[in-house]
Amino acid sequence: MSSATEPERNGISLSRRHEWLVYVILALVFISGAAWAWLHHFARRAGEFGESPHPAELWMQRAHGASAMLALILLGSLFVYHIPRAWRARRNRRTGTLLFALFAFLIGTGYALYYSGNERLRAWMSWSHLWVGIALPLFIALHVWRGKRTPSSPEPADESVPRITVKGGFR
Ligand code: HEM
Ligand code: HEM
Repeated sequence: MSSATEPERNGISLSRRHEWLVYVILALVFISGAAWAWLHHFARRAGEFGESPHPAELWMQRAHGASAMLALILLGSLFVYHIPRAWRARRNRRTGTLLFALFAFLIGTGYALYYSGNERLRAWMSWSHLWVGIALPLFIALHVWRGKRTPSSPEPADESVPRITVKGGFR
């Protein structure tokens, strides 16, 4: 695990707190999305007037909307140091780009799920959003594993991206 005072990692490594925040927010978005899908597809109830949604479904939808917004803030926080510095240092670019593309896909399809009125398009968005979402933890694990194994570049920190020196703060 990295610490906020490791200059040899060139300010790319996240502080311990920031790293945990990434895992917690992504776990929330994942659990709420997966639970919503499960309730929606497998836990509908037979009622007097046909099938009706499980009462927890609406809560999972709300939780997913809220945690998805947190995930957007999280992504923005990675654009402050982590992504630009790693990009300049040419470290872990391949899995980083792939991860970013998956996020972009989830954001795009999530947005379309709000506003698309076309039934066929909506069904496609719904399933592709779900499958990409379910695969997300695998790609995160791959990214973290590869990232922690790639050697840090020997050059000093890239000073064109400003550096926070507060111990324990976000980078
Ligand atoms: C899409 C959003 C991204 C997320 C959620 C993400 C998340 C993470 C996390 C949680 C770690 C492990 C913590 C750490 O080692 O500091 C990590 C490591 C790393 N990531 Fe990312 N990352 C993203 C995008 C990128 C991109 C686009 C790049 C490259 C241009 C990149 C390069 C790296 C590198 C080099 C490491 C290893 C850092 C080290 O420990 O030395 N990441 N990433
Ligand atoms: C950055 C990550 C994500 C963002 C920004 C995001 C965003 C969204 C948004 C905006 C919606 C539409 C909400 C609504 O209609 O009320 C949605 C729906 C949904 N999301 Fe996500 N999501 C993300 C990740 C995930 C993950 C990881 C999963 C699954 C494990 C998932 C599963 C679902 C499901 C099942 C729906 C309902 C689809 C439907 O209405 O048919 N999402 N998401």
